[in-house]
Amino acid sequence: MNKKTWLVTGGAGFIGGNFVLRQMARGEVMVINLDALTYAGNLATLSGIEDHPDHYFVLGSLNDQPLLGYLLETWQPDAIVNFAAESHVDRSIDSAEDFVQTNLVGTFHLLEAARHYWNGLSVEKRAAFRFLHVSTDEVYGSLGETGLFTETTPYQPNSPYSATKAGSDHLVRAWHHTYGLPVLTTNCSNNYGPYQYPEKLIPLMIQNALEGKALPVYGQGANIRDWLYVEDHCRAIECVLENGQPGEVYNIGGHNEKTNLEVVHTLCALLDELAPDSAQGPHRQLIQFVTDRPGHDQRYAIDAGKIQRELGWVPEETFETGLRKTVQWYLDNGEWVQSVINDCHHQWIKTQYDER
Ligand code: NAD
Ligand code: DAU
Repeated sequence: MNKKTWLVTGGAGFIGGNFVLRQMARGEVMVINLDALTYAGNLATLSGIEDHPDHYFVLGSLNDQPLLGYLLETWQPDAIVNFAAESHVDRSIDSAEDFVQTNLVGTFHLLEAARHYWNGLSVEKRAAFRFLHVSTDEVYGSLGETGLFTETTPYQPNSPYSATKAGSDHLVRAWHHTYGLPVLTTNCSNNYGPYQYPEKLIPLMIQNALEGKALPVYGQGANIRDWLYVEDHCRAIECVLENGQPGEVYNIGGHNEKTNLEVVHTLCALLDELAPDSAQGPHRQLIQFVTDRPGHDQRYAIDAGKIQRELGWVPEETFETGLRKTVQWYLDNGEWVQSVINDCHHQWIKTQYDER
């Protein structure tokens, strides 16, 4: 039997990259990986599958409509998984333009391309097709001391980033309601793990600590995030893609609520233990409290009961085991960190773009 084909967008980024690597290890699908290789996307993440016959990398944007049409007609995918986005809240506060262009307009273009393609499929292929949109818990806004985000929590995005993600979720919902496109939406909490660009809290703190730089904690470090190991997230997406109900939303979270200061303290202790020769230890002395992020959401926490009850997904990694693995990964992969910081892309881009 022929393998299924998935068009994955943003598969050179953090979560998309982990997802594509996982699919190649599973060996059950062929992946067409469309990524614009912004600062956050890097082929170094995919170097281990450079010659994999089931992975086809295409350099291009969600906003290139002819390219989207060409890829869908050429590869006839069974599903689209949309990871591509501008993902960093602080950058969205500095300048929101790229966030609107990719997260909102780009998702619109992808939905339109998917709709035209899906309309032309056979009855059988139409029924089996899925469009999975990867979104965030930040669309629900901020929690007080108690409560959890469920799939019916009203949307209340607070940052430019979350506003564009919220808008994209609404577009996805509308394309299902109006045109019948078989969509699935997942809203996930903070991810951590290998291959995360060192601007996000955990890899930034690891990298700064190893270089003896300050560890900038916003405000008092009292904001709370619900941490999920990236491999658990990738398994959840697979699970929703294969067994989720079209039109439904699934919240994904790790049941790991921590203040930022707790996270940074734990990282410092792990670095003291795993990098005992570091000249920078004890790493805690590098912590500096800095001006808070404008509009900083206080607390995120996910009720992942629906995906557990309906699809049987539960996270496998605890925060303790996942964070230890992550610190060890960054210690072992300094070359990857340097290559993404220096943005030195590998020279193996396979693209049929010019053949259109
Ligand atoms: P990332 O920033 O690491 O990667 C994004 C990828 O998208 C990069 O490879 C980039 O090159 C690519 N990209 C950007 N603009 C593009 C465009 N116009 N066309 C094609 N590709 C483009 O992001 P991430 O952390 O891996 O997040 C992936 C998705 O998951 C995003 O949609 C994000 O909103 C969502 N999400 C992230 C987290 C998290 O904690 N990181 C949590 C929940 C949801
Ligand atoms: O909740 C899911 C979201 O998690 C995703 O949708 C986003 O794409 C992802 O970036 C992440 O958003 P956050 O803003 O929560 O992640 P970040 O790593 O930027 O920050 C985590 C917390 O740490 C947040 O409360 C701000 C704080 N922080 C962050 C940085 C970069 C610091 O205190 N210092 C820092 O230097």
